[in-house]
Amino acid sequence: MAIFEYAPAPESRDVVDIKPSYGLFIDGEFADGSGTPFKTINPATEEKLAEVATATSDDVDRAVRAARKAFGAWSELPGAERAKYLFRIARIIQERARELAVLESLDNGKPIRESRDVDVPLVAAHFFYYAGWADKLAYAGFGGARPLGVAGQVIPWNFPLLMLAWKIAPALACGNTVVLKPAETTPLTALAFADICRQADLPPGVVNIVTGAGETGAAVVGHPDVNKVAFTGSTEVGRVIARAVAGTDKKLTLELGGKAANIVFEDAAVDQAVEGIVNGIFFNQGHVCCAGSRLLVQESVHDEVLEALRRRLSTLRLGDPLDKNTDIGAINSAEQLAKIRSLSDLGESEGAQRWSPSCELPDKGFWFPPTVFTGVAQSHSIARDEIFGPVLSVLTFRTPAEAVEKANNTPYGLSAGIWTEKGSRILWMADRLRAGVVWANTFNKFDPASPFGGYKESGYGREGGLHGLEAYLDV
Ligand code: NAI
Ligand code: MG
Repeated sequence: MAIFEYAPAPESRDVVDIKPSYGLFIDGEFADGSGTPFKTINPATEEKLAEVATATSDDVDRAVRAARKAFGAWSELPGAERAKYLFRIARIIQERARELAVLESLDNGKPIRESRDVDVPLVAAHFFYYAGWADKLAYAGFGGARPLGVAGQVIPWNFPLLMLAWKIAPALACGNTVVLKPAETTPLTALAFADICRQADLPPGVVNIVTGAGETGAAVVGHPDVNKVAFTGSTEVGRVIARAVAGTDKKLTLELGGKAANIVFEDAAVDQAVEGIVNGIFFNQGHVCCAGSRLLVQESVHDEVLEALRRRLSTLRLGDPLDKNTDIGAINSAEQLAKIRSLSDLGESEGAQRWSPSCELPDKGFWFPPTVFTGVAQSHSIARDEIFGPVLSVLTFRTPAEAVEKANNTPYGLSAGIWTEKGSRILWMADRLRAGVVWANTFNKFDPASPFGGYKESGYGREGGLHGLEAYLDV
């Protein structure tokens, strides 16, 4: 039940000009693909947005050859010259921010508030950040290190343009060239980025974008002339890629799934913690690898926190992603919706209690209400499997040691959150949590200067910060 009635406040679609069909971006030109084109839709309405080319392995080969040809001159450019291109790209992203945000929300289903205020500003920030390092690699401790060559990069659909930035900005700063494959449900902002590369006069072949589904991704990863593979996506595909790369000279970074614990102690400020819980799992419909999908709450404050959480969730607005008042947008695809539904149903059948605020779901499109499971045991599938949707599993603990044990009881290890007044407890916990990122009294905070990556089945290698440079250099 909304406290206030809000009039619709949709962002205008007029800032984007979506073409009926898109080709591949190879050697600085848009070109036809040899495979059967696929359509990308708006998941909030199921409306077809555009037809997009499918790259076959021959097309991928052309892209890799273009990247190889461009590598010589690009890697020989002084870092300060490469930086100029990256700064130019960053500025164009800022200039075209509104267009990119609307396009991202249309193709992905995420609320415009997030694409406008989080995704796109972070995309620009990543290019600015790595532009700054391009001529200072020696100061970063990489004096004399050579770029790796051609990077093959495969990214998912949850942060389409941001994952592109995480991959392309450090690769280019270090002097590599790239062939990137965006996800098949969200190719449009990567193709807009191809246009930005042209606008920035980036030399042809330095960035190549090949669209298509898993087969195209496998062709990129498996191409013999690719020197570095970077992947973000499911642990399952990550395993396939690790096998494909094993025994070759290719360098590999994998950023995979997560099942993060968001840990609330009895001395935490309850209202702030509730905001952090909401941001942790309902940001981007929970399509976040580092989402705080397991709430560990100290037993003594369980009822108080849950009551405040339910109250807060009742005020969230779900609906049109382009509406500036929307908090929760559409689920990215019919497949992802089916997965969220079946894992949630499993949670119920295993005996956990399911709750959602009363909330009307639109008729068309893919939607799932914010959902909270209480009475969850560690053995329940909803406490173990990544759901990748707006579904929170609540567990309890009594002592800090028990919180650590439960938090670490997962095959993943990407992130964790701690909510407490005590600085010493934050440090004590952070030391013991097996997670690549530990947030304290906040959650889902990202910064290009801060490395990001996982332990165990969440993958290996780091993106962002100085570590992110190392992944693209022969050190
Ligand atoms: P996915 O891992 O299949 O897709 C990610 C990317 O890999 C896409 O671009 C896809 O086309 C590509 N791909 C698929 N098969 C490939 C192969 N054999 N070789 C090379 N590239 C390949 O993820 P999907 O199917 O979209 O989502 C399934 C589940 O994975 C989600 O429900 C979620 O749990 C998890 N996921 C995790 C993400 C993360 O950021 N950690 C991102 C996306 C999904
Ligand atoms: Mg789409």
